[in-house]
This record gives sequence, C-alpha cells and structure tokens, in this order.
Amino acid sequence: MAPLLQLPFFFFFFVFFFSFSLLTDGDNTSHVEQAGNFHIYYGQSFKVIKNALDGQSYLLLQNSSRAATRSRYCTGRIKSFVIPLSNFSIDTTTVPVSFFELLGLLGSLKAITSESMSSECLLKTYMGGEIEIVNKSETNQLATQFTAHFIGEKRQSRACNFVTFEPSEENTPLQRTEWIKYLGTFLNVEARANQVFQAVKENYGCLIKAAANTSATSFKPVVAWVGCNEGMWSFSHDTYKSQYVVDAGGENLEDSLEANAYNMSIPQDLDDFRALLCTLDVVIDETYASDPSEYTLSTFMQNVNISDNDCFSFLTNRSLWRYDKRVHNTTLDWFDGAISQPQLVLADLIEAFFPTGNYTTTYLRNIAKGEGITDIAPERCGRSSDTAMDPTIVPCNTIS
Ligand SMILES: *[C@@H]1O[C@H](CO)[C@@H](O)[C@H](O)[C@H]1NC(C)=O
Ligand SMILES: *[C@@H]1O[C@H](CO)[C@@H](O)[C@H](O)[C@H]1NC(C)=O
Ligand SMILES: *[C@@H]1O[C@H](CO)[C@@H](O)[C@H](O)[C@H]1NC(C)=O
Ligand SMILES: *[C@@H]1O[C@H](CO)[C@@H](O)[C@H](O)[C@H]1NC(C)=O
Ligand SMILES: *[C@@H]1O[C@H](CO)[C@@H](O)[C@H](O)[C@H]1NC(C)=O
Ligand SMILES: *[C@@H]1O[C@H](CO)[C@@H](O)[C@H](O)[C@H]1NC(C)=O
Ligand SMILES: *[C@@H]1O[C@H](CO)[C@@H](O)[C@H](O)[C@H]1NC(C)=O
Ligand SMILES: *[C@@H]1O[C@H](CO)[C@@H](O)[C@H](O)[C@H]1NC(C)=O
Ligand SMILES: *[C@@H]1O[C@H](CO)[C@@H](O)[C@H](O)[C@H]1NC(C)=O
Ligand SMILES: *[C@@H]1O[C@H](CO)[C@@H](O)[C@H](O)[C@H]1NC(C)=O
Repeated sequence: MAPLLQLPFFFFFFVFFFSFSLLTDGDNTSHVEQAGNFHIYYGQSFKVIKNALDGQSYLLLQNSSRAATRSRYCTGRIKSFVIPLSNFSIDTTTVPVSFFELLGLLGSLKAITSESMSSECLLKTYMGGEIEIVNKSETNQLATQFTAHFIGEKRQSRACNFVTFEPSEENTPLQRTEWIKYLGTFLNVEARANQVFQAVKENYGCLIKAAANTSATSFKPVVAWVGCNEGMWSFSHDTYKSQYVVDAGGENLEDSLEANAYNMSIPQDLDDFRALLCTLDVVIDETYASDPSEYTLSTFMQNVNISDNDCFSFLTNRSLWRYDKRVHNTTLDWFDGAISQPQLVLADLIEAFFPTGNYTTTYLRNIAKGEGITDIAPERCGRSSDTAMDPTIVPCNTIS
C-alpha cells in the first residue's frame, strides 16, 4: 500500500480548480438540487464530496487513474478513496440501508453492525450468509477489513475508511432523499442515483398537487406529532415532519401554542395538554414502544390518562396514527425505508388527512381503528442482492 501522505493544500486546490474547468456534464455526474449539507465537485479522474455537517472532504480517485495507485490521503479534513469501492460495511444502527438497495449495492455490502434490520432483502442476504455482523465497537476490524465503512455519527469518524452519511440531518423530506447522490459517487452509479431521485421527486411533487387540490375543496385538518416519555408528553418540532403535514394538505398546530413538555402527574399540565389535543383533527403518536405490536388505542388512552373520547375529535373521527406499521422484531422501517422513499410517507399522510378507504398505507397505521403492524419477512424479497430496488411510485391522478 502507498504511504500515507499529507496533502499540501496549494497543490490540492491547484489540481482541483484546474480540472474543474474540464468537467463533463452527463449521466455519470450528479448535481445537488435541494440538499443543504453536501456538495459534489467533479474533476477528470476524481471527485470531491464535501460534507458540510462534519467539514470532511472525500477525495474519490478513479481506480484507473495514476493518483489512485500512488497516493492515499487521510488528514483531519480530507480522506481519499479509490472508486468504485470494491466492498464496504455499514453501521446499520445509524445508517439507512434502503439507500444502498435503491442503488443495487447490497452485493458489495460485506458487514453490518447489528441484527436489527427492516428490509426484506437485507434480511434475505444476511440469512444467506453473504453479510457478517461486526460489533460497532470493533473499530479496528471495521477500519481495516473494508474499503469503506459508512457511519451515521460524526463522533466516530476518525478511521481513514469511515464515511459519514447523514440524510436525517436535512430539513425536508426530499433533501433527505437526495443523499442518494452522495452515495452514488462512491460507486460510480450517479446515473442510477439521479434516476431514483428524479422519480421520487416527481411522484412526491404530483402527490403535493393532488393533496392541494383536495384540501382546497375540504377543510385542512390540524395535525400534531406527539410522544410520551416517562410520563411527559411533548410535541415534535422536527422540520421535516411539519413539511410533510403541509405537503399533504394539513395544518400544523401553531408552534406558539405549545409548551415544551407536559408532566402527566401535574394536574395543570395534564389540563393544558388535553386542551391542545382537543383542537387536533389528526394525531400521530410517536411514543416509543419496546414491542410496537402491543401499542394500541388503550395504550394511548392510558398514557393520556383518559377513559372517554368526549372532546377529542381525532378519536371520535378515528384518526390516531403511529409510524410503526412496517416493523421487523422491534426495528422500525420508518428510520430507514421511509427516509429514502418519502413519497410513500406523503401518500400515507394524504390518506390519513383525506381518507378514501382506497389506499393501503405503508408506514402509518391507524390505532384508533385497531390497525396492527405488518411484519417484514425475508421471503418477501424477490430480488438478488445486486439487483437494484425500484422506488414505489404511488398512483397520482392529478397528472395524466
Ligand atoms: C463521464 O463520461 C464521459 C463520457 O461518457 C467521460 O468523457 C467523462 O470523463 C466522464 N466523467 C466522469 C467524471 O467520470
Ligand atoms: C476498476 O473498477 C472496476 C469496477 O469494479 C473494475 O472492473 C476494474 O477492473 C478496476 N480497475 C482497476 C485498474 O482496478
Ligand atoms: C459489542 O461490544 C461491546 C463492548 O465490547 C459489548 O458491551 C456489547 O455487548 C457488544 N454488542 C454485541 C451486540 O455483541
Ligand atoms: C475489500 O476490498 C479490499 C480491497 O480490494 C480487500 O483487500 C478486502 O479483502 C475486501 N474485504 C472483504 C471483506 O471482502
Ligand atoms: C413530574 O412531576 C412529578 C410530580 O411533581 C415529579 O415527581 C416528576 O419528577 C416529574 N417528572 C418529570 C419527568 O419531570
Ligand atoms: C389519572 O386520572 C385520575 C382521575 O381522572 C387520577 O385519579 C389519577 O391519579 C391519574 N393518574 C395519573 C397517573 O396521573
Ligand atoms: C372527520 O373526518 C372527515 C374526513 O376526514 C371530515 O370530513 C370530517 O369533517 C371530520 N369530522 C370532524 C368532526 O372532525
Ligand atoms: C428477530 O427475528 C429473527 C428472524 O427474523 C429471529 O431469528 C430473532 O430471534 C428475532 N430477534 C428477537 C430479539 O426477537
Ligand atoms: C380506488 O382506486 C382505483 C384505482 O386507483 C380507482 O380506479 C377507483 O376509482 C378508486 N375508488 C374510489 C372510491 O376512489
Ligand atoms: C384539480 O382538480 C380539478 C378538477 O377536479 C382538475 O381539473 C385540476 O387539473 C386539478 N389540478 C391539479 C393541479 O391537479
């Protein structure tokens, strides 16, 4: 292996700007349209990914280039990789694997860090013995046995082959999805990444229009995401969730109305919280459940300490949802597949806000109607490990 070199900055930027002018635009390049946290630059035989979250730049050298065989960089701010990566591992406790599946990369995945999985095809590949489990605390093994190791926490990014991949840090659903382009560059599959992002974006955009059309002629439901943790209820302030509500034709509960948290043991808090609940048409209960299948309407009623539905229109109208419909053991696909395919979440929310009874939701289940979870089973995977998963396009009637 070539010696580790400290890259002189002036040299790096000279090469960078010189080659930048020679870049060719085409199917083999990706350009960031919406995401705020990364940038991609193309040179003739290399690419640079700049991750704005951790300030790291990844210098990706094509395996056919001379630089690839001669140099390797690993400084505080710049790491180099020879691409396409011949293999990689993923910290599956923090990185959504569905992005890799959409790009058809499961065949190069050699190790994951946990048995918790929420993908039919990852389960099948794992059970077929093609993927090993490496404890994430075995950093030495992860740092030496794989060409790259993808992680979701910048804290552990020290090793030279560690790459941070953090779609969840973005503010909107589509920004999160666009991180597929970030991955695509490491394996020269930009064309596929562009194609997936475009398909998802178009479907998502079409669904927004359909929802806008519906909400123009009926009332906009007021929606909140709430969760209970050790006797304290609170409202979620995640921007991507508010964006989903707006995109699906709903209205978010005014931020100004909400306190931070409501202690169910304090009568005044309980009253205030219930008063706010009374204003809601649709509630999404995010309360953590160690066994999602056991979380039912009565669990919610206990957590709010009520026994009747009187003032709650979301209960009389039966619109109390959870995003743990797709689950394997206790692992929710909401934290994986839902990030790469937001059009499915949007379609679920539209069905929740403007029910047709004609659409089967993917991620959301209505516990007010006693809807249960769907299990994720490896038998349902109908692809080989290196066949790409296609995004699911939801029928959208507004554009014909
Ligand atoms: C993209 O492909 C074109 C030809 O199809 C090639 O000339 C160009 O060097 C490629 N660019 C990159 C960054 O791979
Ligand atoms: C570069 O990667 C491609 C795709 O993995 C491979 O077919 C090719 O042999 C590699 N070339 C070199 C010089 O390693
Ligand atoms: C991983 O290693 C740590 C520390 O060695 C240990 O505490 C933990 O139980 C291990 N996890 C698994 C899933 O084996
Ligand atoms: C990953 O690829 C590298 C470089 O090609 C190789 O040395 C290593 O053995 C591979 N690891 C696995 C687990 O296949
Ligand atoms: C809730 O209030 C009770 C009674 O005042 C208190 O004992 C408890 O610590 C509070 N819980 C939290 C999480 O603050
Ligand atoms: C639930 O409400 C009842 C009265 O409605 C009250 O007596 C009880 O203390 C409350 N439980 C909790 C845990 O706050
Ligand atoms: C109940 O839901 C339906 C359909 O979403 C809506 O038309 C109706 O106005 C709602 N009723 C109440 C009382 O919120
Ligand atoms: C999770 O599911 C697998 C099979 O799909 C099973 O073998 C395993 O025991 C389950 N783990 C737990 C903790 O329930
Ligand atoms: C249900 O969906 C099908 C196919 O998308 C459509 O043809 C039909 O008109 C829908 N029915 C209702 C009641 O919306
Ligand atoms: C909204 O609905 C009307 C009639 O139902 C239709 O003509 C129009 O094209 C729709 N607009 C959009 C943006 O889908």
